Amino acid sequence: MTAMSAIRTENLCKTYTGRWNRDETSAVRTLNLEVKEGEIFGFLGPNGAGKTTTIHLLLNLIRPTSGAAHLFDRPVTETEVHRRLGYLPESVNLHTYYRGGELLNFYAALCGVPVEKRADRVNELLKLLQLEDAAEKSVAKYSKGMAQRIGFAQAMIHDPDLLILDEPTASLDPVGRKEFRDVLLGLKRRGKTVFISSHILSEVETVCDRVAILQNGELKRVGTLRQLSAAKSSKLIVDILPAPVMEALAATTAEVTMVQGKIAIRCADEALRHTVEALLQQHGVGIFQRETEAQSLEEIFFSSITPPPKL
Ligand SMILES: Nc1ncnc2c1ncn2[C@@H]1O[C@H](COP(=O)(O)OP(=O)(O)O)[C@@H](O)[C@H]1O
Ligand SMILES: [Mg+2]
Repeated sequence: MTAMSAIRTENLCKTYTGRWNRDETSAVRTLNLEVKEGEIFGFLGPNGAGKTTTIHLLLNLIRPTSGAAHLFDRPVTETEVHRRLGYLPESVNLHTYYRGGELLNFYAALCGVPVEKRADRVNELLKLLQLEDAAEKSVAKYSKGMAQRIGFAQAMIHDPDLLILDEPTASLDPVGRKEFRDVLLGLKRRGKTVFISSHILSEVETVCDRVAILQNGELKRVGTLRQLSAAKSSKLIVDILPAPVMEALAATTAEVTMVQGKIAIRCADEALRHTVEALLQQHGVGIFQRETEAQSLEEIFFSSITPPPKL
């Protein structure tokens, strides 16, 4: 039996309109995404890619322009499903007049943790996130990293089945990141699903089962890290490039550059290399040299993203 889906979007679109319908921004474009129960899923993309917008749509905080989103196979508009959900927003805003322990107790009450279990649950989380010393400290005096940890504890207070974390590692130091990974792996062992957005691949790659790469609201790649790292880019070196080949190449994503009097055709993946090779053969162009390189994940991340236009 295949695992149930924790998150599923169908042709999800969100266009923000400015005043008088000016300044339209297509933040999310026809997004089809599925996260299985029990997965740790990385949602990657540069700033402005549409990650937070997607998350807001999943949380039903904003309405889609078109398409639909589901959590545990229920439409996100059904509030019942939100009980199974924990959320850490991008910027954690805490009520500064509480101490850490009090704040978590307050959230526990809000989330319906029974009164007799609250103290244990709060202590458990303070320990898990190494916030014991922070429990009696006023939240107003917290560092950004501590605030992030309290935010994380808040998201987990009711032991949700799905955690949605928007750029959770942004304020953490390297030690904090290591602990954070351990916490996520602990959740996974207990069958929980975690959806993490980040603009830095290396921060999430060690914990994620699968990642998706988003740019300009569009899904560029999705797969296991193994699948993505299996993508090999290659360079074909030729002596000449007849005009018809040149034109045909322009319609693909192959990049043509001059290298020491030779012509290099860079193909981002195997499928493109086959296409280009067939094209060259068809026009009788001999391949002088072939270079294949396995990409690191960081390279895949950047090669999936088209560079911003030069100013
Ligand atoms: N409330 C809003 N009104 C108008 N445009 C917005 C709003 N929120 C985000 N955007 C725009 O939508 C795009 C995606 O933003 P966002 O989802 O925040 O991206 P990310 O989280 O990946 O950095 C950006 O171009 C951003 O400027
Ligand atoms: Mg964001």
